[in-house]
Amino acid sequence: MSRLRPALLALALSAVCVQNASAIVGGTNVPAGQRGYVAYIEIDGSFACTGTLVTPTRVVTAGHCSAISGAVTPMPVISIAQPPQLISVTLGSVKRNDPAGEKPGVKSVTVHPKYTFENGSGYDVAVLELARPSVQAPVKIAAPGEENLWKPGTLAQIAGFGTTKSDGDTPDTMQQAQVPIVSDATAKGAYPDSFEAATQIGAGYPQGGTDSCQGDSGGPLLVPAADGSLRLVGDTSYGNGCAQPGFPGIYGRVAGSELRSFVTGAAPGSFAPAPATAPAPAAAPVSGAPTSKKKVVRRKSCASMHRGSKKHIRSKRHKREVKRCLARRRAKLSPR
Ligand code: ARG
Repeated sequence: MSRLRPALLALALSAVCVQNASAIVGGTNVPAGQRGYVAYIEIDGSFACTGTLVTPTRVVTAGHCSAISGAVTPMPVISIAQPPQLISVTLGSVKRNDPAGEKPGVKSVTVHPKYTFENGSGYDVAVLELARPSVQAPVKIAAPGEENLWKPGTLAQIAGFGTTKSDGDTPDTMQQAQVPIVSDATAKGAYPDSFEAATQIGAGYPQGGTDSCQGDSGGPLLVPAADGSLRLVGDTSYGNGCAQPGFPGIYGRVAGSELRSFVTGAAPGSFAPAPATAPAPAAAPVSGAPTSKKKVVRRKSCASMHRGSKKHIRSKRHKREVKRCLARRRAKLSPR
């Protein structure tokens, strides 16, 4: 292994370089102090990829960033992770390789076991375990049950340190942009040979112009949740060039069911809590009727409120009391 390592490393780096054609295209500088959870990732001293902090100690990135083979060599039938000591992660800065950024060190690398040449471009996800917990606020992965947050047409956010055009230079400042999530049919239409919906998801405008690009790999595809926080749904994986019309960017479907068990195993606690089952839609209030059935159920019934002796219960007076009670409740004057 030790003799093999330099060769494998060279291969891995060449894989990265071959793909180093273009970062976010059509984006803008991320303002200082924002997106502290976006990781700048170097392998053996060279900029390689982007990643996302999903718990204080785990960064999600692409399999092709972290497997020693990169995505090109047919060699591995199993995915071999990069040695963690070769990987450096910088968090908490919008500047590339910022010495002032947080560099927590990498303790272990876990590549999806199905991320292999044999599986094509699918399962392109890996988890880096940090040596020390980051102080940055992580972003959670969308929970099962939050699929409606990332349905086709949703405007998603992308960010990264990659190039600003195909074959361009890498920018000094992290870039961000918004791209709509496309349907699986659209993605499959663009990439009939490589797109597989179980582990991949596409995002981009039909006319192109905005996209992730080389070096953004592993970086986040995010959508807003109901409470305004963000959810991670994808990690940048591949595309035909960058921002080309008809070719959406393709992302690992990290929030999807096919990748979930791997991600949750390698990054425990990285998924948002499943939303409470949606309450049954409230029945349309009938005029004069109580607006909430639940309330009535929890209340003592009028009959039991006005209970007395058996004789009383049979009496007309009791019936009147109950009737008045019900009427008061209907008029919502009842204090209980
Ligand atoms: N494979 C590239 C990387 O390693 C990411 C390419 C994304 N391309 C795209 N058109 N969205 O950085």
